[in-house]
Amino acid sequence: MAEVVIVTSKDDAGALVADEIGGLVVRRPDAVLGLATGSTPLPVYDALRPGLRGVDVSRVRGFALDEYVGLDPAHPESYRSVIAREVVEPLGLDPARIRTPDGDLAGIATAGERYEREITAAGGVDLQLLGIGTDGHIGFNEPGSSFASLTRVKTLTAQTRADNARFFDSVDDVPRHCITQGLGTILRARHLVLIAFGEAKADAVAGAVEGPVSAMLPGSAIQLHPHTTVVLDEAAASRLRLADYYRYTWEHKPDWQGL
Ligand code: GLP
Repeated sequence: MAEVVIVTSKDDAGALVADEIGGLVVRRPDAVLGLATGSTPLPVYDALRPGLRGVDVSRVRGFALDEYVGLDPAHPESYRSVIAREVVEPLGLDPARIRTPDGDLAGIATAGERYEREITAAGGVDLQLLGIGTDGHIGFNEPGSSFASLTRVKTLTAQTRADNARFFDSVDDVPRHCITQGLGTILRARHLVLIAFGEAKADAVAGAVEGPVSAMLPGSAIQLHPHTTVVLDEAAASRLRLADYYRYTWEHKPDWQGL
């Protein structure tokens, strides 16, 4: 099962995950990070400033989970721009080592395959950060996504477009298509770290962690992974049946065990 850690604040979540990433980069200076967008991972990126807590990040590599299709990469809300602004620049990563799926319409038919080849050539992702959508999506794998799926184009649901409308002038400006790592791609990462905050995520979190494994709730794919850490605030954890057990387990965690 996933290790569930219930924290009291977003800052605590950020510090916990940032420590794990810092340790990884010390052990493996050319670590491959799986980068997530959305508001959820921001406390992690904040806690990593400046420059991964003094750790040399010059060789760190990174792959974003997803991108909008047909949105100018220079648009401030393209995930390429978001990753550059919120991760690459503040943490001092080498932009040449950070990749985002190519959402350009011109090459879209082969973009998924090309991205998969790049991830494989990098040796795979060491630590994959994940948020979760209110409908249970991870990356942009909407309900119904195959657990075997690799990077490909998906159609966004009305709910996801509405959720993401806050980043655009109106919901009509939110692209209809995206290119996202598949659930199969995500499951190949060596360590998954899913983070969620707030009441609005409580149902999706409960389904992902404790619900039946089902393509209807793509986040439940984490149950198929041997090494997943789920970091939640109290509100996001509020519908977990085993919350007390997770707290007890965390409190009595052996010192020698990492995340
Ligand atoms: C988007 C991203 C997901 C992210 C989700 C939740 O749809 N593609 O990777 O997990 O939003 O976003 P937030 O963290 O802002 O709630």
